[in-house]
Amino acid sequence: MNERKFIEDKVGEIRAIVGSEKAISALSGGVDSSTCTILAHRALGSNLKVIFIDDGLMRENEAEIVGRTFSGLGVKVDIIEAQDEFFRALKGMIDPEEKRKAFRHTFYTVFGREALRSKAKFLVQGTIAADIIETKGGLKTQHNILEQIGIDPEKGFGFRVIEPLQDLFKHQVRRVAKALGLPERIYSRMPFPGPGLATRVIGEVTPERVTLVRKATQIVEQEVEKLKPFQAFAVLLSDRGTGVEDGRRRYGQIIVVRSVESKDAMTAEPTPISWKALRRISKRITSEIPEVVRVAYEITSKPPATIEYI
Ligand code: XMP
Repeated sequence: MNERKFIEDKVGEIRAIVGSEKAISALSGGVDSSTCTILAHRALGSNLKVIFIDDGLMRENEAEIVGRTFSGLGVKVDIIEAQDEFFRALKGMIDPEEKRKAFRHTFYTVFGREALRSKAKFLVQGTIAADIIETKGGLKTQHNILEQIGIDPEKGFGFRVIEPLQDLFKHQVRRVAKALGLPERIYSRMPFPGPGLATRVIGEVTPERVTLVRKATQIVEQEVEKLKPFQAFAVLLSDRGTGVEDGRRRYGQIIVVRSVESKDAMTAEPTPISWKALRRISKRITSEIPEVVRVAYEITSKPPATIEYI
């Protein structure tokens, strides 16, 4: 793939499709939505409205980091506070696909509302080839596949959807992102799923449980930074385990650390993290998050396990 040619073609295509109408892009700060947003911004300039939907399921300080990065690139980002709406939609749910469905529904409700408000006729989103393959293969219903919520992507729901990256895999998107001048902290960033930390909380997704897994995720990301794994994160299990504190027994939370190497997320192998680094991760998680009494490192490949837990 020639990145410059790809960029030129896509910018031309987006401009031809949207014409003098308005479009809206939902930016999450990940490499796919960032790349897609910059492509659309190049094509449409001020006719593109960029929003960041704060669903309460993002990593630490994400809204602030995204706002700062994109304002440095000359792109204004409107932060939409929708945390309560997402937590209300997820309340009481434990089934993985139910949670994905509730997330997706809320996401498009908020996205659609903002599009209407800004009089946009087009939604630009960073769906990539793996999202489509995995959903159509029946593996997982990824959040951004419109057919899953009964929307015909051609007809849309009052909006037409534009997906400039739909034929690319993650490593190709990274090359396009670099050629577009996105900073390294974006183009080399680990993938983060659309439904965010909701995919990393087994059982009910509550603000408290998300806060806990967010802290653990930050520790894992900091500790593996030098190893540059394809993806690394923490998962909060729904069962608790016995721990001991000051000679007394207490039930506490269990965190699983997952780190994988992969090219395109279709298959993956666990990262061979050193014993020393694993011990440091475990010590930091249990001392900085007192609710946690056990930390496990997952050693499963994909297949048979998927990368995320839900
Ligand atoms: P799995 O868990 O299916 O994940 O092995 C493969 C890759 O996809 C990411 N992932 C998602 N990305 N929306 C996304 O944008 C989703 O609903 C979703 N589910 C999984 C996952 O993080 C991994 O990189």
